[in-house]
Amino acid sequence: MNDLFLKALKGDSVSRPPVWMMRQAGRYLPEFMAIRDKYDFFTRCQTPELASEITVQPIRRFGMDAAILFSDILVIPQAMNIEVQMKPDFGPFLPNPIRTTADVDKLEVPDVTIELDYVMKAIEMTLEKLDGEVPLIGFAGAPWTILCYCVQGQGSKSFDQAKAFCFTNPLAAHKLLQKITDTTIAYLKAKIKAGVHCIQLFDSWGGMLSPVDYAEFSLQYIQKIVHALQDEAPVIVFAKGCWFAFKELSQTGASALGVDWTCSAINARYLSGGQITLQGNLDPARLLSPPGMIRNMVHNMIREFGKDRYIVNLGHGILPTIPLENVSAFINAVKEYRE
Ligand code: CP3
Repeated sequence: MNDLFLKALKGDSVSRPPVWMMRQAGRYLPEFMAIRDKYDFFTRCQTPELASEITVQPIRRFGMDAAILFSDILVIPQAMNIEVQMKPDFGPFLPNPIRTTADVDKLEVPDVTIELDYVMKAIEMTLEKLDGEVPLIGFAGAPWTILCYCVQGQGSKSFDQAKAFCFTNPLAAHKLLQKITDTTIAYLKAKIKAGVHCIQLFDSWGGMLSPVDYAEFSLQYIQKIVHALQDEAPVIVFAKGCWFAFKELSQTGASALGVDWTCSAINARYLSGGQITLQGNLDPARLLSPPGMIRNMVHNMIREFGKDRYIVNLGHGILPTIPLENVSAFINAVKEYRE
């Protein structure tokens, strides 16, 4: 197996850093769009043949150093019996959001090996298709980010209703966060058992909280999840906008931290204590630059982060409008890098 990615997570020295892209299985790929034309979003997630095929598409075309299973963070609320729809041109929509203590009390922590069995089947099928070529990443949302959708009911610029729930009914909020945490731990343990080599936790909306509120409503649940998993697989925590918590996040037992593009490499190294592997952080919109410029930016980024304890990635998911040749330039710039 190409073990660059797992070596970087361990902190071993490498000839060049590994590279993959958040949302690499996505809408910038014509072969993804061909499947998307035929099947709705959750059918793609729930059909192992489709999910595994979509997962390997970017690997076949570009040869990234890791694959990430095609799925969604919102399969967790679905498994907890909260209805989640994916509306075209709108995004996630939850028609019956969680708003009261009674809503939280009604929620069960499901048996994920039953409710999310299709994910385990997709992992097995993906491992067959990858045939040991590159490691497979499994993922989940951080409990705070999942709460945002469960309470707000949809995406939001402010997540004001999610925050109002936490700030007016913190007891119910913590009950909900704990139920999501318990479900997520069982889910990720099952994914590791099914064969994923690494876990990434996405706290996409962590940066919406103040540092004090982050400690209360997000960090402590991430700590519990990493603690439960760290002996079974390496964990990457991508907490967008959460540079203020890098010190605490680096002490959770995680193998790596994701960095978004608003934090420089030198600041990220400083804030995270200089030892932990870092992953990131090209502005996704920078892939709109001409290929020659992308190449230079990638080489500069590797020099700034250093080739060791570093995983090249974007600072958030790839945009659907990125040209394929620019993605090639990004991946190839890493592959040709030598010191
Ligand atoms: O990285 C990968 O390639 C694996 C696949 C993946 C998807 N969702 C597929 C997807 C991953 C890792 C996710 C995680 C996810 N889902 C996050 C955290 C990562 C992040 O980007 O912050 C979040 C917040 C979600 C919730 C979600 N799912 C939103 C907000 C949307 C709509 C917004 C959008 O980008 O359109 C989705 C839908 C979704 N999940 C798509 C894909 C490829 C696009 C819709 C489609 O394919 O029909």
